[in-house]
Amino acid sequence: MISQNTIQQILGRIDIIDVVGSFVKLKKRGTNFLGLCPFHNEKTPSFTVSPAKEIYKCFGCGKSGNTISFVMEHEKHSYVDALKWLANRYNIEVEETFQSDEQRQQQQSADSLYIINSFAQEFFSRMLFNSEEGQDVGLSYLKERGFREEIITKFQLGYSPEQRDAFTKEALAKQYSPELLIKTGLVANRNDQLMDNYRGRIIFPVHNTSGKIVGFGARILKKNDKAPKYINTPENEIYIKSRILYGSYFARQAIDKADECLLVEGYTDVVSLHQAGIENVVASGGTSLTIDQLRLVKKYTNNLTIIYDGDAAGVKAALRGLDLALEEGLNVKLVLIPDNEDPDSYVNKLGAAAFIRFVQKNRQDFILFQLQVALKDAGDDSVRKAEVVNRMAETISKINKAEDFTKQQDYIKQCSQVLKIDEGGMHALVNKFIRDRIVTQERKLPFSEPGQQDEQVGSADTGNYDDATFNLLFKDELQEKEIARILLEHGTRNWDASKLIAEHIFEEMVDESLVDNQEVVKLVHTFKDALHTGYVPDKNYFIYHADPQLSALAVSLLNFPYEESDHWRRKFSQNTGYQKHLFTQSYEDFIKTVAPENENALMRFLKIDEDRTNEEVVSAISYLKLRKVKRMLLENQLDLEKPHTVAEFEMLHRTHEHLKHMEMELTRKTGTVILK
Ligand code: UTP
Ligand code: MN
Repeated sequence: MISQNTIQQILGRIDIIDVVGSFVKLKKRGTNFLGLCPFHNEKTPSFTVSPAKEIYKCFGCGKSGNTISFVMEHEKHSYVDALKWLANRYNIEVEETFQSDEQRQQQQSADSLYIINSFAQEFFSRMLFNSEEGQDVGLSYLKERGFREEIITKFQLGYSPEQRDAFTKEALAKQYSPELLIKTGLVANRNDQLMDNYRGRIIFPVHNTSGKIVGFGARILKKNDKAPKYINTPENEIYIKSRILYGSYFARQAIDKADECLLVEGYTDVVSLHQAGIENVVASGGTSLTIDQLRLVKKYTNNLTIIYDGDAAGVKAALRGLDLALEEGLNVKLVLIPDNEDPDSYVNKLGAAAFIRFVQKNRQDFILFQLQVALKDAGDDSVRKAEVVNRMAETISKINKAEDFTKQQDYIKQCSQVLKIDEGGMHALVNKFIRDRIVTQERKLPFSEPGQQDEQVGSADTGNYDDATFNLLFKDELQEKEIARILLEHGTRNWDASKLIAEHIFEEMVDESLVDNQEVVKLVHTFKDALHTGYVPDKNYFIYHADPQLSALAVSLLNFPYEESDHWRRKFSQNTGYQKHLFTQSYEDFIKTVAPENENALMRFLKIDEDRTNEEVVSAISYLKLRKVKRMLLENQLDLEKPHTVAEFEMLHRTHEHLKHMEMELTRKTGTVILK
């Protein structure tokens, strides 16, 4: 870890205009600076940097952050690496803090593995280009397949000689430890003899996102049915297969720019597509995608396009990752390559331009594709068809993020058309899956004893949510963030003579189940902890927090006042139809009519509210309490529908009345906030 002292020094020296300005041409605009966003393609600048707040925000693509996150995002560095990068820029000596023996050992072991891998890569490349065997066997094979020298060099491909200990001998002469050599998978111990694990193979080094070599894939050259086609590095401290996407280091910037990641199966597919100029491509190694791999993709883009050959096995493997991808909020498309081809052979056959056209034209929606496959499998069997309907509803229900709401509606529509079923019915089914999940997630709810949960899950037709309830349950992330924003912006101000606003909020939130969003919960905890230790955390405490989740949240909560972005004002008019000269309405009135549900957020954004902080606090807390009461009402209603003794019924009715009363009170208090 980097010492707190060093971090403080770095923070003291950072100049966001200097750092961002070295990558983006910035022009002064009022108190802020404006430039073309480096994270998406645009012609009119909407990338704004505020030196006062030390943050940036793009009003086009929404990316925002602080100086450190800019370096992380732009240079694809980890948090620690970004700090080191900044330290280097400002000539600050980096002081590392004490590590435990175990940590140090692990770090050392990982470092040694990187060193050995890098040594091995140089060895294999040297063999490929400079040894007779390498040139005759390896290089000629690669050239025959159409790989040009510059791409071979870029991907650091190599060749491992037939000789049984060519690498082992050199590595031992370099004093590398046999134990570590075995760990890298480069060397094997056979009957107490150390020898090479890869012999007569083409070597594909596997890089992590910062370009360090974590392992190798070694492809056989001779036809040999007994030996595996590829030998891969065994799992070790740095080679964790589930977190690796081959090619990610070379693809990251292209993915960012294209806002799309292409996914193929093999090493050669990645290299070939790169050579053809299609650089936003990574490979999964032919297995189904893991959650870590999906998150890696999501760091760069929300759009994933899977390019597989049409054979069933590969596609089935890819399909398995689908629901995970949906939960991560990725848009997944699928392109099937004709039989007996793979992206490598196909791009060589068609050429780059035609290949890209093929991908554009044959991109199909993944969910609808899955539906077609399942329908074909089911044939005329009505029972299996019903299963398909259920499975699709479950899949669609996984798209449950607030921002994807319309996407979900779209899928419901399209799938019901394909399935020739009633759209309303599909809707209800999807809602049932959503509700089931919520019910199982919220075992803490009153009146729901564990035994009854499953029963409820089974009863499909109890109460569909009306729209307002649905909004309250699912679409209110904004509201939870409102509490976080108030804490961040005003938490350290006085609520009254006796306490801070933050303290008031914590008192009101005794019950932490008011908030679902784990990031917000974390912020609350961190805030509380800081207060307890006698420290009053200000905005910067969170903006520069070492936990990237917290600092990202903090930055996303801080808006720029609208005067500072002409471009945004224009965008706002375009999006909402507001044109000052055409309407006599003020912005405020206009927002109230066109976007009542976003009123608060927009008003705040436009910074036309007076100091109504205390009002905001009451309103925001009331909203969350109201939501909780609504949830309790719902549970109570479900309970009422079951058989009970008279006494129980009376009790439930009294509860209902009581909750209804609370609901009314709270609705009044939420006042300015979203409510139908
Ligand atoms: P392929 O058999 O399609 O290989 O396996 P490829 O990459 O297209 O290689 P060429 O074009 O035949 O030379 C796809 C991927 O599956 C993994 C590798 O990652 C490979 O790139 N694989 C395949 C293995 O890990 N082990 C194997 O034995 C075979
Ligand atoms: Mn291939």
